[in-house]
Amino acid sequence: MIGTAPNGFRASITGIGSYVPDRVLTNAELSTMVDTSDEWIIERTGIRERRIAAPEQALSDLCRPAIEQALAQAGVEPASIDLLIVATVTPDMSFPSTGAILADELGMPDAGAYDLSAGCTGFMYALVQAYGMMAAGLSQRALVAGGDVLSKIMDWTDRTTCVLFGDGAGAVVLDRVDRGGFLGFELGADGSGGPQLYMPAGGSRMPATAETVAERKHFAQMNGREVFKFATRVLVSSALAILEKCGRSIDDVDVYIPHQANVRIIDHAVGKLGISTDKVVVNVDRFGNTSSGSIPLALAEADASGRLREGDIVLMTGMGAGLTWGSALMEWSSK
Ligand code: UT7
Repeated sequence: MIGTAPNGFRASITGIGSYVPDRVLTNAELSTMVDTSDEWIIERTGIRERRIAAPEQALSDLCRPAIEQALAQAGVEPASIDLLIVATVTPDMSFPSTGAILADELGMPDAGAYDLSAGCTGFMYALVQAYGMMAAGLSQRALVAGGDVLSKIMDWTDRTTCVLFGDGAGAVVLDRVDRGGFLGFELGADGSGGPQLYMPAGGSRMPATAETVAERKHFAQMNGREVFKFATRVLVSSALAILEKCGRSIDDVDVYIPHQANVRIIDHAVGKLGISTDKVVVNVDRFGNTSSGSIPLALAEADASGRLREGDIVLMTGMGAGLTWGSALMEWSSK
């Protein structure tokens, strides 16, 4: 799917918030848990540390402070939100949705609220949905949260996955604006790559049994090399597709926010796209791959450090389980 903003309709991000748990898990500590080393993790991924949720913290506990911050920054009341989408693969529970739980806790009685699953691309998918509902006149003001508590579905004995991921959440308020805003979106999915990154059990295909637990099938499993090849390809192709659709070039981009999975994947995309590194937001070194939390966390950091200025062209591209990918191009504008 690819498209540009309908004529005369402008919506943008008017508030951003983020939250990560306090607990820091360093590479040094990980090397006491599995057969790995600080050197290997830094050389292959660029990750130095990640945050880990407390045992009692569920996804909604990470999203709530991020959403409150986004609402405060936008200067709007929770009750004025009529659509809440939570992008995640680690909801509090299968049902009810974390969106419904949060809408109740935060005081959004008029909001349609639900969860959306698109792996690490979840936040991009949710942004497109919220934007589309606003453009169709169905929603007046939307809130999109992206977050994951991947530590709860990690196999902490599997060094090929557990060193890569972390916990975190981000949230944005989407509102109508007078100028700028989203210019276009591209989304894609290739389900044939699903088995490259998945959690085998716990769904209707393989319900939970004593065997599935014993066989560690309730943990994320990944073919790292295949996902690496896919990631390097789609980060570039998706970005180029949306730039072309919007009649822009990579030189027009002021701020580039790629999914934070691995510094080597980001470096590859940056080299192929030919964008200068000072325009690229990178925080994977401190948070690891936070899945649906990745792009909004990076966006929140970029905003807090003054890197997002009115009129800037911002490019975001996510990719992940599905396999899925998605890009958004926008002219930064909060009014
Ligand atoms: O949102 C999308 C989510 N996923 C991703 O983006 C992941 C994409 N993939 C990657 O980032 C990389 O493939 C990894 C970081 C997962 C792995 O890097 P790699 O350069 O592709 O390494 P590899 O899988 O080819 O493994 C190289 C070696 C293997 O040993 P042998 O077979 O060469 O003896 C692994 O067993 O490194 C070994 N290895 C490790 N060694 C130390 C794998 N994991 C570790 C580890 N510590 N944690």
